[in-house]
Amino acid sequence: MASSSSSLLVPFLLCFAFSLSYVTATAKFDQMFQPYWAPDHFSFDGDAVNMKLDNFSGAGFSSKSKYMFGRVNMQIKLVGGDSAGTVTAFYMSSEGPKHHEFDFEFLGNTTGEPYVVQTNVYVNGVGNREQRLNLWFDPTTDFHSYSILWNQRQVVFLVDDTPIRVHTNLEHKGIPYPKDQAMGVYSSIWNADDWATQGGRVKTDWTHAPFVASYRGFEIDGCDCPVTNADADNAKRCANVGGWWDQPLLSELNVHQSHQLIWVRANHMIYDYCSDTDRFPSVPLECEHHRH
Ligand SMILES: *[C@@H]1O[C@H](CO)[C@@H](O)[C@H](O)[C@H]1NC(C)=O
Ligand SMILES: *[C@@H]1O[C@H](CO)[C@@H](O)[C@H](O)[C@H]1NC(C)=O
Repeated sequence: MASSSSSLLVPFLLCFAFSLSYVTATAKFDQMFQPYWAPDHFSFDGDAVNMKLDNFSGAGFSSKSKYMFGRVNMQIKLVGGDSAGTVTAFYMSSEGPKHHEFDFEFLGNTTGEPYVVQTNVYVNGVGNREQRLNLWFDPTTDFHSYSILWNQRQVVFLVDDTPIRVHTNLEHKGIPYPKDQAMGVYSSIWNADDWATQGGRVKTDWTHAPFVASYRGFEIDGCDCPVTNADADNAKRCANVGGWWDQPLLSELNVHQSHQLIWVRANHMIYDYCSDTDRFPSVPLECEHHRH
């Protein structure tokens, strides 16, 4: 009797465990996010959510809620093999012509050539703050963490917990800082072969489609801003909510992180708008005040 019940139990448990982990990953994505573009270009595979680009469509997802300050993290495995012409983005953005935006854009490449990570910051609808770097690993062979920490003092972009960019609050110098609009969290994959790869010279090779980016490890820890609330009310509440992200220790990088950022900039940065004097004959105001 014992043996017959355990032989019945084993397949039941296996089945249960499998469906549980599947449901958990999907449920976690569903709790926080929804496809906003091409739901038929999504698939769920174990603990990963896959989004594909083919010659019919790209795809995208967005958070269900909006946030002001906090930390957003996701693990991404970028398109493997030939990804030339494709861009995969992970970003936070508010809405409207005066919107703020914090961008990670992953620019694909031909097989074996390095991905480029472009970051940008928009404040009051104005971007033009591109930085580009090569990564210190191949982002297509495994999942890596990409995070945005946003508090009242700084916006920090991190790759596997290593800071790659800091946008500092310089309001005391008269420079506007994004802290008055709730932002959604987004990701998308699309064809950008007019500019993305080697300046647009390399086009998307559709015979290599579909191009698939995979996601897992979704984490959003921030001040939740129901879309029905006015931005001014959210701003007042979120400025005083006392989230862990606003503790004094996180008002700037610690010594170890500063060294990491210096290392990234010295070894991996390939473009910085702050040093592009052709584009900006007079150095943008915030660059004069950057410590790095
Ligand atoms: C693609 O590879 C080329 C050659 O290694 C490199 O110059 C370029 O920066 C890489 N990335 C992009 C997005 O073009
Ligand atoms: C998409 O690409 C496939 C494979 O290359 C091709 O067979 C198909 O005709 C293309 N469809 C469109 C709409 O371009």
